Amino acid sequence: MFARRHIISTRDFTREEIDYILSRAAELELYARGSKTCDLLSGKILANLFYEPSTRTRLSFEVAMKRLGGEVINVSSPETTSAAKGENLVDTIRIVSSYCDIIALRHPKEGASRMATSFSAVPIINAGDGAGHHPTQTLLDLYTIQQEQLLDSLRIALIGDLKYGRTVHSLAYALSLYGAKLFFISPEALRMPEEIKMDLIEAGVDIFESTDLRDVIKEVDVLYMTRIQRERFPDPTEYNKVAGTYRITTGLLAENPHAVIMHPLPKLDEIAADVDETANARYFTQAFYGIPVRMAVLSILLER
Ligand code: NCD
Repeated sequence: MFARRHIISTRDFTREEIDYILSRAAELELYARGSKTCDLLSGKILANLFYEPSTRTRLSFEVAMKRLGGEVINVSSPETTSAAKGENLVDTIRIVSSYCDIIALRHPKEGASRMATSFSAVPIINAGDGAGHHPTQTLLDLYTIQQEQLLDSLRIALIGDLKYGRTVHSLAYALSLYGAKLFFISPEALRMPEEIKMDLIEAGVDIFESTDLRDVIKEVDVLYMTRIQRERFPDPTEYNKVAGTYRITTGLLAENPHAVIMHPLPKLDEIAADVDETANARYFTQAFYGIPVRMAVLSILLER
């Protein structure tokens, strides 16, 4: 169903397709942990082309490929490549796609991955395009929510930078397939883009918006925190105005002791350090799930 397809946005998926990927991820968990080994993708090469900083996404793609018996080539500092000589992305994609079987691309420009599909001989996985989308992050977010048995009739607050945060854009679209109720909590200046809200409303999603987390904390199952995306602010003084707006503390959690806390990471100061030790915190496990979920994606796309 997926062989040789590109993965650019969660909007390209049906619910059945997402469910299939999540079930494959569950089957691969023991391999993801290294308790079992396999060589499903031996002889295959993944190119990680990262034009923006990354720790989890790049490393987990690399580990996922290696756990499946495949090989990885990496560009993580474009300043050491021909991009620094002025080579454009189109030429880079043409060449790199002739060197490998699949490309994971992260780029600061929204739409870069979609554009790359026109010039690539192999499947492109969007590993983050500016403030656009980050579909594999969403798949691991959904996997995490499913492990909590919350995926059906979910009530989730997406908190923080809903304007520039690509993870919440992708997640909101995907959750529209699962009948979730979405609570958008952000500073006025960082609200969920109007266009995305319109799409969600059209899809019949129940949305509530507020600037105050306390309005909704008692009503939700999941608190999905995000970092304010400093690097996407045209004016740094605007960042300073909104930095530190939301912070999850153990005190705040007393208002909803069952809330599951997720975060795509990296986190700055939006979650107090002692929250890491609580049973509510799921973000480290969530980051681990990047391995089985990306293994599922790679194996499905490269199926022989
Ligand atoms: C996110 C990203 O790059 O969009 N990180 C990630 O992939 N886990 C979130 C962020 O950078 O804030």
